[in-house]
Amino acid sequence: MAYAQMILGDERTGHDFAHATRVAQLAEAIIASDQLAVDQLVVMAAAYLHDTVDDKVVKNPESAQLELQERLRQWGYTYEQQQAILTIINNLSFAKEIECGKASLSLAGQIVQDADRLDALGAIGIARTLYFGGAHGDVLYDPQIPIKNYHSKAEYRQKTTTINHFEEKLFLIAESMNTTYAKAEAKRRKAFMVEFLEKFKQEWEND
Ligand code: ADP
Ligand code: NI
Repeated sequence: MAYAQMILGDERTGHDFAHATRVAQLAEAIIASDQLAVDQLVVMAAAYLHDTVDDKVVKNPESAQLELQERLRQWGYTYEQQQAILTIINNLSFAKEIECGKASLSLAGQIVQDADRLDALGAIGIARTLYFGGAHGDVLYDPQIPIKNYHSKAEYRQKTTTINHFEEKLFLIAESMNTTYAKAEAKRRKAFMVEFLEKFKQEWEND
């Protein structure tokens, strides 16, 4: 997936090509473990390409989307596959869910969504979150700043503390998995994060 590598190559907030590759591998693990009958080409393309039209990665999401559709056509995906892939990519994100409620995703979409969300959890999830906060110049932690409930994408993109992001988003997505494999894996990954957060706050308070 040289195209994904090209678009995501300079990404330095945790949505790089390595993230896309992990999402593709997690999606494969979900399909194998849950024995799901699904168009693997659609799942893999959506997994690798899911961040290439996102407004946090590219300047102009509309033109990125048109370019991606043209590329998919050139790569030999049928029109139905192109539509399936683009629909998944456009409805996957937590930001979208806040704005529009939980989208009714295709099975392929549910798999890619779970894979993307698993990569936001566990040890990798902790690392990506700290990395994202640093890249955006966010405050690491401030016990005076309360946890927010998001009602719009604009609110979600507002500044928060990086540690608050665990409770504002990451623990919520851990409870929102679609597939059996992802539900079990999310539980393990969340438990590790809860432990990390407890220790972090203990050390912060010095008790
Ligand atoms: P979505 O793909 O649902 O739009 P994002 O791309 O915004 O979600 O988030 C992907 C990952 O980036 C998160 O799982 C997290 O690790 C990191 N991230 C996003 N927003 C923040 C934030 N405000 N603070 C720290 N990390 C963040
Ligand atoms: Ni992603």
